[in-house]
Amino acid sequence: MTASIIDGKKVAQEIRAQLTDEIAKLKQQGIQPGLAVILVGEDPASQSYVRSKAKACGEVGIYSEVIRMEASISETQLLDTIKQLNQNPNIHGILVQLPLPAHISEKAVIDAISVEKDVDGFHPISVGNLVIGSDALLPCTPHGIIELIKRTGTQIAGKHAVVVGRSNIVGKPVSMLLLHENATVTMCHSRTNNLAGITRQADILVVAVGRAGFIGAEHVSPGTVVIDVGTNRLESGKLVGDVKFDEVAPIAGHITPVPGGVGPMTITMLLANTVKAAKLYGRPQK
Ligand code: GUN
Repeated sequence: MTASIIDGKKVAQEIRAQLTDEIAKLKQQGIQPGLAVILVGEDPASQSYVRSKAKACGEVGIYSEVIRMEASISETQLLDTIKQLNQNPNIHGILVQLPLPAHISEKAVIDAISVEKDVDGFHPISVGNLVIGSDALLPCTPHGIIELIKRTGTQIAGKHAVVVGRSNIVGKPVSMLLLHENATVTMCHSRTNNLAGITRQADILVVAVGRAGFIGAEHVSPGTVVIDVGTNRLESGKLVGDVKFDEVAPIAGHITPVPGGVGPMTITMLLANTVKAAKLYGRPQK
């Protein structure tokens, strides 16, 4: 069996087209969804992500503001900026690009973002809402993963989903979303014994460990849906996932490539969250 390739770019484009229509309708009601992205410092990867987010907003009709702050700013200055954005009726989503400089507490910053504007889904109340299955702004990458799996035509309910990696950004929330979809979920991590013995039992395998080529043919059974969340830059400059694509694709049922799999979905779900926040909490603007 050779896996069919899950085209994240195509799915992302389809969702963005739907969002463009929704945004046009919202504008007719006097609401233009708005996203503020705060970038502290000059990390090149973060700068590139932030540029992509602003560009994607423009393409679907979301108003966006990028607020650039020097790496030397104080935590208080950053918290004050967030407080102002919390009050700003033109802004429905606030995203502070991570990582932050070491002298600023990530937790204090995330806690300061209004839950209604928490389009990253990182606030402890958003996380709590996710766990109890309350309607919430879902974290973007996990939400994008669920969309990709559903669009393969795979029924998630009743399946064994194995998640490798237990990060707060991907592993934990995607496990919870799979559970809400009625999968039987196993979480594996760096201390798991007999990893391949467990991953070979997976109908759906989600890998988010941040190690190039961590999962190979020995970890995968025929027909498995393989979602590779890794984006690892090799010394050669090549971008690769956590899964050895060439080894696993001939075995899997469906597989995401890197790049072009999960990546394009993350920004798309950020746009979707901004629209959702505007719909739920937006007021007509003057
Ligand atoms: N840095 C890398 N990925 C992310 C993300 O999803 N959200 C934020 N805020 N920062 C990031």
